[in-house]
Amino acid sequence: MHLGIIMDGNGRWAVERRLPRAFGHKRGASKVTEIVTACPDLGIKTLTLYAFSTENWTRTAHEVSSLMKLFRGYLQNKFLELVENNVKVVFLGDPSPIARDISSQMKRLELATKDNDGLTLNIALNYGGRDEIVRAAQKFGMDTVADKVIPKDLTTETFERYLDTKGQTNPDLIIRTAGQRRISNFLLWQIAYSELYFTNTTWPDFTIKELQLILSEFNQEERTFGGNKSKTTQIH
Ligand code: IPE
Ligand code: IPE
Ligand code: MG
Repeated sequence: MHLGIIMDGNGRWAVERRLPRAFGHKRGASKVTEIVTACPDLGIKTLTLYAFSTENWTRTAHEVSSLMKLFRGYLQNKFLELVENNVKVVFLGDPSPIARDISSQMKRLELATKDNDGLTLNIALNYGGRDEIVRAAQKFGMDTVADKVIPKDLTTETFERYLDTKGQTNPDLIIRTAGQRRISNFLLWQIAYSELYFTNTTWPDFTIKELQLILSEFNQEERTFGGNKSKTTQIH
């Protein structure tokens, strides 16, 4: 299964404890490691984490720089662990505005883990659903100019090949922590038929136990993808 998480509430977690917001982000990063490690045992094949949105650049320069420092540290400290744990890391989003040392480390990690066949870990960094769709449209446009395709070749299936998630299944379930019931530009195309789960728990306080409870609730949900209910539950 493919699980997506909007990891929200780091700031509030810190403020509630009279700590700087950066401290909440640090806690959030440790939570990432905990959840990533638990995924294979929970039957999760793909995990997509929303780490930084295209809109998050509008935060204070201080907060943006502390987040970038955290990403830099994560890439340095977790590189070998991810390679050795058979995790395949894929970055979603536009890396071009990200500091060169960070974006080249992102590329190196993708390359070093590309043949791993355990958990696929998508990290959405400078990611926006609208931006991804526009970049995909631009790539398709370039292919028409290069005479590789004609406009009529564009279908919902072929369009998916231009998205950052190309070749992957769509998320089955999206969890957003910390109370807000919105999508905030996360995976707009891919969530067409995803189940959505909102919990009030902040991301640093989120636990594997809560994840297990959410997953067991999800497993009881019948997904019909626009069709009829399955025969067993249909009322004749
Ligand atoms: C989520 O936590 C982390 C990022 C957006 C990078 P927030 O920083 O949004 O935390 P709140 O919503 O202010 O509590
Ligand atoms: C969404 O959270 C982005 C990430 C978790 C990276 P935000 O805190 O940025 O979203 P809003 O402002 O509540 O919509
Ligand atoms: Mg937030």
